[in-house]
Amino acid sequence: MREDVQDAISRVDQKRLWDRLMEMARIGAIPGNGVNRAAFSREDIAARKVLISWARARNFAVAMDAIGNLFIRRAGSDPRAAPVMTGSHMDSQPRGGRFDGIYGVLAGLEALEAIEEAGLATRHPIELVAWSNEEGGRFPPCTMGSAVYTGAKSLGELLEVKDNEGITLKDALAQTLAATPAAEKRELNAPAAAYIEAHIEQGPLLEQEGKIIGIVTGIQGLRWFNVEISGETAHAGTTSLGLRKDALRDAIAAINALHELTRDAADTVRFTIGRMLVTPNSPNSVPSHVLFSVDVRHPDPATIARLGDAVEPTVRKAVTRCSVKVTPTLHDDPCAFDPAVVDCVERAARALKLAHRRMPSGASHDAMYMARVCPTGMIFVPCERGISHNEAENARPADLAAGARVLTAALLELADR
Ligand code: GLV
Ligand code: MN
Ligand code: MN
Repeated sequence: MREDVQDAISRVDQKRLWDRLMEMARIGAIPGNGVNRAAFSREDIAARKVLISWARARNFAVAMDAIGNLFIRRAGSDPRAAPVMTGSHMDSQPRGGRFDGIYGVLAGLEALEAIEEAGLATRHPIELVAWSNEEGGRFPPCTMGSAVYTGAKSLGELLEVKDNEGITLKDALAQTLAATPAAEKRELNAPAAAYIEAHIEQGPLLEQEGKIIGIVTGIQGLRWFNVEISGETAHAGTTSLGLRKDALRDAIAAINALHELTRDAADTVRFTIGRMLVTPNSPNSVPSHVLFSVDVRHPDPATIARLGDAVEPTVRKAVTRCSVKVTPTLHDDPCAFDPAVVDCVERAARALKLAHRRMPSGASHDAMYMARVCPTGMIFVPCERGISHNEAENARPADLAAGARVLTAALLELADR
């Protein structure tokens, strides 16, 4: 490894990275060591302001696009060269942890800080991005910022999405854009030379095998749907069962049928109903309307296609008394990362003598959309017992810093080409 690259890597500061993670964890802190920082919420805005203040302290350029993705750039020496990008997200699940997403953002910032301190010139700019609304917990679907950035979805088609309180994405986004300290305007779809995202594994394999770095080879396929069952509300004490159009009863039948559809002896299929809204949601009124989400995942393209395509017919067959509307909200085929970026990450882990393994990702990430527009890869670090989307999410400072070192080395290799 070149001496100047070694110098930059040696400047990755474990304590600075950890202290920043803990500072961000205070924004939206919830009992049990967790974080609730929904996309486009007051807490999200507060986190954006802190990140921008750290970027400005280094004189890095700050820009923002129409969906609120934030870009922090360290200039390169070639004005025509597209940026080598890194990043992740700052929003969290409603009962999320302190590392999901924010680690990738702060590891990217740590890489920029280290490269700046070492005074290295790179040909390409290196750009950190904090993607908007990766989780989709408040405004489904997930990975929204990168989907819009890369042109996979148009912002216009998403603006009327509502959260559980009926607030539209349009209003929450406008508030966020207005509250973010003046950032330059960034166009959507600007070219990128490469993208690498660091993230906690969110599964147990690295820890179980005593490995520090996961060299991520790709992401499994994912389909999301909103299912709406509409019946008729009625008095719980007086309306005979035979006359009811009970939307929740039909929803339960539909969910049971979906569980049958996705039963898998190999335990590879992932199937989740994570969100349900019942109207009028009163103990003594027959439910008139139910909306529930469907999340189904599989690494094999044919299997995820078959399962996703079967969701609507399965629901229609199971529902006997009410009307049904099924709306697909996300359709991501399995993706394989660019072999050159995968190799680059592996070279960095090997050069730093860190125990590593190649692995696919079960969770979705913004890297999935970036992989459609530029050579892309990911770096995983272990998290305690694989726990994630849970307040108890935990990771070791030394592992987080090791991931940031691998990221720094890989970014420098890609940015000099
Ligand atoms: C992202 O958090 C996902 O749902 O995989
Ligand atoms: Mn994440
Ligand atoms: Mn997540």
